[in-house]
Amino acid sequence: MTSFDAIENSQEAAKRNLWLHFTRMSAYEQSDVPVIVRGSGAYVFDQQGRRYLDGLSGLFVTQVGHGRQEIADAGARQAAELAYFPLWSYAHPKAIELAARLAELAPGNLNRVFFTTSGSEAVESAWKLAKQYFKLTGEPGRYKVISRDLAYHGTSMGALAITGLADIKHPFEPLLPGGVRVPNTNFYRAPDFLAGDEAEFGRWAADEIERAILREGAQSVAAVFLEPVQNSGGCFPPPPGYFQRVREICDRYGVLLVSDEVICAFGRLGYYFGSQRYEYQPDIITFAKGVTSGYSPLGGMLVSDALMEPFSSGTATFLHGVTFAGHPVSAAVALANLDIFEKEDLLGNVRANEAAFRATLEKLYDLPIVGDIRGAGYFYGIEMVKDKVTRETFTDDESERLLRGFLSQALFDAGLVCRADDRGDPVIQLAPPLICGQEHFDEIEAILRTVLTEAWTRI
Ligand SMILES: Cc1ncc(COP(=O)(O)O)c(C=O)c1O
Repeated sequence: MTSFDAIENSQEAAKRNLWLHFTRMSAYEQSDVPVIVRGSGAYVFDQQGRRYLDGLSGLFVTQVGHGRQEIADAGARQAAELAYFPLWSYAHPKAIELAARLAELAPGNLNRVFFTTSGSEAVESAWKLAKQYFKLTGEPGRYKVISRDLAYHGTSMGALAITGLADIKHPFEPLLPGGVRVPNTNFYRAPDFLAGDEAEFGRWAADEIERAILREGAQSVAAVFLEPVQNSGGCFPPPPGYFQRVREICDRYGVLLVSDEVICAFGRLGYYFGSQRYEYQPDIITFAKGVTSGYSPLGGMLVSDALMEPFSSGTATFLHGVTFAGHPVSAAVALANLDIFEKEDLLGNVRANEAAFRATLEKLYDLPIVGDIRGAGYFYGIEMVKDKVTRETFTDDESERLLRGFLSQALFDAGLVCRADDRGDPVIQLAPPLICGQEHFDEIEAILRTVLTEAWTRI
């Protein structure tokens, strides 16, 4: 078979047999499915050998970059020694070592690790733990969870009830009861009476959580789920003091604070955990993605000693588990990944370069379509607007033409993997590997400048 035949055949099979996630499959009736075959550093390559800057780290995953032989070797060694054994009643050395290492890195008393295979499972596990914990400690009525508008916390039925994106929930109703929504921290779209003062806006947004707790009845609320920087909607950092106030509110009403760090942990914000950057102490941290840089799937939750306490003695058992949680290969891969973080001081690289990343992206403010550039660390969203002065956004129809009809494909064709998203207002999301530096920022800015300039002429 010639390589041309191989490409033709794989295109045909991709269209006939493969179902892509969150993808309008009809979009590929007339065009090829992009097939990525190889990665190296901050770049990936398609079947035709074209190179793309991976400005999204795959899907907020590949922190150390692509093609790291030492991680692949660690996985292979583990598969040869012990490919699989469950964490149901047994342990294996790499899960033990990784749990101890994560406990060491995590803030405060988060010393217990419950592994999963994904972020959704981590979120699902955190809600189940909160419910069972309260049943064991004499508050069986606490089951509700509070989360923010537009926030994405996963797609399994429990996680979906926490997710705040109406469009991806409606097809699956009725959902699990108990999901309660509060405003997010999009300061660019703050209500008029708060628009001039970010700290005041943050106080209001935190107090909305208190109002929700009181409205629902504190005795019925189990947990608040928040990302350090909210991804969906386009990177909403917390206003100053927001998390400190949320922590106080949670303590006042006996509600658990879950920091969903599926994206924000493992260096994305320049710290091992996003809560460390914003100096708050969660009761649970959920993680996935960057813990292995994607060389093998793994997720989990880090739980405080206090939450573990009812399960530490007597007959109480957390009645939850999944077959592949803490898979030996994934645990070995995570350890090798963390070794690279240390050896190459990736947290230091993000902290040293994040101001330059922001400054490079902010050059785009001279374009009429660029309304807001926001984020932290190596995690940014660029909101596009029809009118910079009034902040008017696009109609659904314009959004459809702009994002689906033009931007996503044009950015990819120009050699940049990023994400054009309109689950809130239209944004482009960026999360490059943590190894990136100025030359990558310049490449991202140049491609965005060309494509956004062209997009403006097509509105
Ligand atoms: C904050 C957050 N929580 C949960 C999830 C779900 O993770 P997964 O896709 O691994 O199930 C995601 C995925 O992007 C996420 O960003």
